[in-house]
Amino acid sequence: MFEALHHGVLGRALKNGLLQVRWWDVRDYADNKHRTIDDKPYGGGPGMVMMAKPLREAIRHIQAQRDKPNWVVYLSPQGTLLKQPGVVRLKEKLSTHNLVLLCGRYEGIDERLIMSMVDEECSIGDYVLSGGEFAAMVVIDAVARLLPGVLGDSTSAEADSFSSANKGLLEYPQYTRPEEDEGMRVPEVLLSGNHEAILRWRNRMALERTLKKRPDLLNSAQLSAEEKEILAELTGDENE
Ligand SMILES: C[S@@+](CC[C@H](N)C(=O)[O-])C[C@H]1O[C@@H](n2cnc3c(N)ncnc32)[C@H](O)[C@@H]1O
Repeated sequence: MFEALHHGVLGRALKNGLLQVRWWDVRDYADNKHRTIDDKPYGGGPGMVMMAKPLREAIRHIQAQRDKPNWVVYLSPQGTLLKQPGVVRLKEKLSTHNLVLLCGRYEGIDERLIMSMVDEECSIGDYVLSGGEFAAMVVIDAVARLLPGVLGDSTSAEADSFSSANKGLLEYPQYTRPEEDEGMRVPEVLLSGNHEAILRWRNRMALERTLKKRPDLLNSAQLSAEEKEILAELTGDENE
């Protein structure tokens, strides 16, 4: 499944050694010849549950091979919802820890393993996936974009939606050639070469589309007096 990581920006980063991703198959830590790692839930109910012991062995084995301590993140729909500040925090963790992304399957993992070995639980959204692998890849991709050298232009992650440099707002709209597409023209200001005017326009558009698409983000955005004024103007427009 993790083959998907070897493409595009992330593929290049892996090739250039800007980050390392390794994976371990928990079946290698099973204590039976059938390599079984799941069993029925106590108390009955549907599905199977991943057993604590093979996972514990796997996590200890990973730790024994590493110079930095593990920071074990269990990908789980019950975890804290992952947002950009959480991604930044995980990226910062990498300077002192190795991230171990624990992917569940079936009905999940024996609670005792979570209690004893997991440092945090992380959800990528309020829906249920069949396994943690896609969620782990989401985390890896989002964290990798913030590592030095991964994006060609280091300012590109800063301009992205949700970034703190962008005050947690959505990014302004983007256009590329041609200047006209099916009768729709690129906004004139972007063709003007006036960098100050472009910056002002982008700032206003970021506020406008955040207000339209994700007004909840405005509650925590640290806006300047000027931006607050623009927002008041935009809200006025909306109410008219
Ligand atoms: C079918 S789910 C188990 C769901 C569990 N029975 C529950 O209701 O909380 C199997 C695995 O997928 C992963 N998973 C599912 N949804 C996820 C989400 N939204 N975010 C992160 N991981 C998720 C977890 O690793 C989980 O152990």
